[in-house]
Amino acid sequence: MAAKPSGNTFAATPSPSPISAAEAAPSQGGAAPPTSPVTIPFRPGLEGVPATQSAICDIDGLRGVLTYRGYPLDQLARKSSFLETAYLLIWGELPTIFQLREFEQEVQMHRRVSFRIRDMMKCFPASGHPMDALQASAASLGLFYSRRALNDPHYVVAAVVRLIAKIPTMVAAFQLIRKGQDPIQPRDDLPYAANFLYMLTEREPDLTAARIFDACLILHAEHSLNASTFSARVTASTLTDPYAVVASAVGTLAGPLHGGANEDVLEMLEEIGTVDQVEPWLDRAIADKQKIMGFGHREYRVKDPRAVILQGLAEELFTRFGSDPMYDLARALEAAAADRLGPKGIYPNVDFYSGIIYRAMGFPTDFFTVLFSMGRLPGWISQWQEMRKEKQPIARPRQIYTGEAPRAYVHMKDRT
Ligand code: ACO
Repeated sequence: MAAKPSGNTFAATPSPSPISAAEAAPSQGGAAPPTSPVTIPFRPGLEGVPATQSAICDIDGLRGVLTYRGYPLDQLARKSSFLETAYLLIWGELPTIFQLREFEQEVQMHRRVSFRIRDMMKCFPASGHPMDALQASAASLGLFYSRRALNDPHYVVAAVVRLIAKIPTMVAAFQLIRKGQDPIQPRDDLPYAANFLYMLTEREPDLTAARIFDACLILHAEHSLNASTFSARVTASTLTDPYAVVASAVGTLAGPLHGGANEDVLEMLEEIGTVDQVEPWLDRAIADKQKIMGFGHREYRVKDPRAVILQGLAEELFTRFGSDPMYDLARALEAAAADRLGPKGIYPNVDFYSGIIYRAMGFPTDFFTVLFSMGRLPGWISQWQEMRKEKQPIARPRQIYTGEAPRAYVHMKDRT
C-alpha cells in the first residue's frame, strides 16, 4: 500500500526530534542502517517518534479532529453502526449493503463459543479482573483455531470474524460466571450491541441504550499508534497468530494510564462526592501534583473529540432514563479544570465520560475497560491487517545501555 502523507500528530505537533518519518521507517524488508544514539536522541515513552506509517486513522490533536479512513468520527458515530465501522477500518472502504449484510451474518454465525472455552472460564477466579479474564480467553482462541496460516485469506477472514463475534460472548460469559450463573447463548435476532446487552442480563435490551452503546463502540474503535495498538503491532510483527495479537493489546490496554483510566474516573468522582467539593478537591489534587484521571492526552491539546461526542450521548441517555448526579459532578469538574489545566492543554479525554455512561447503563465499574477492548478490536485487527499486507519487518528498536562495563564473574566466596 502506498504510504499516504500523513497529517498526523507529527504535522500537528512539531517534534523537536531531528529524525524524519523516512529515516524512522526504512524501506520494507531492508535493514535499517546502523545509527548512533547521538543522531537519534533517546525519547522516553517514544514520544513523538514515528514508529510506523498507517492509512487507517488520523488525529489532528490541535483542532480535535479524528477520522477513520478519512471519515470524520462524529459522522460515523451518528450514521454508521459498529460492524459497518469495523468493516471500514479493516477493509479500508465502507461496505455495500451486500457486503455489510454478509459480514453481519458471518459475525452472527460465529458468536457462540465452544463449551470448552466456557468450562475453562468457569475455572477463572471470580475475584479476577474482567480484563485479565478477557486477555486469557482471547489468547485461548489461538488454542482452538491454531493454524497460523497468515498467507491464507480464508484463515485471515475467519480470524477477523471470530474475534469480533466471540469476544463479546466471552466478556458477557465471564460476567455471569463470576456471579455464579451460567453463560447465556447469543440471540440470532439481535444486532451486535443489543445482543451483548441481552447476554449480560437475559432481558430484552432497551433499543436506545443499545444504540448508544453501539456508538460508544464506534468511538473506541481506533486511535492510531496508542500503547495497546503499538503492543499489537509489535506482537504482530513476529507473525504470530491474531489471537495473540489481540491478547497482547488487551494486556496493555488494562493499565490505568491507558484504558483503565475510566474506572479511576468513577472512583475519583466518588471520592469528590458533591459538586461543592469539586473546586477545593481539584486545588488540593493539583497542589499535590496528582494526575486528574480522564484528563490529558499525548495527542490532544484540546478536548478529545470522543469526549465531546460521549458527552452528547450521555445527555441523550440521561434524557431517556433520568439524570445522574455523577454526570453533574463530572461537568462541574470539567468546568473547574478549564481554568486550572486548560492553559496546559489538558482537557477531558475519552475516558472521562465513558465510565459515566457505562455506569448509567448498569455495567459494573471493573467492566469498563473490557467494553473499551470490545470497541478497540477493529482498530487492533486493522493495524494487524495493514502490517501483514505491507510485510513490515519484526519490531526491534534499540536500547541505550546504561549498565556495567564487561567484568569478570566473582565466585560466591569472594563476594562481599
Ligand atoms: N492531571 C493533571 N496534570 C496532568 C494530567 C492530568 N490528567 N495529565 C498531564 N498532566 C500534566 C503533568 O503533570 C505534566 O505537568 P508538568 O509538566 O508540570 O510536570 C504535564 O501535564 C505532562 O504530563 P505527561 O504525563 O508527561 O503527559 P503525557 O502526554 O505523557 O501523558 C497521559 C498523557 C498519560 C494520558 C496523562 O495525561 C495522564 O496520565 N492522564 C491521566 C490518565 C488518563 O486519563 N489516561 C487515559 C488517557 S486516554 C487513553 O489512553 C484511552
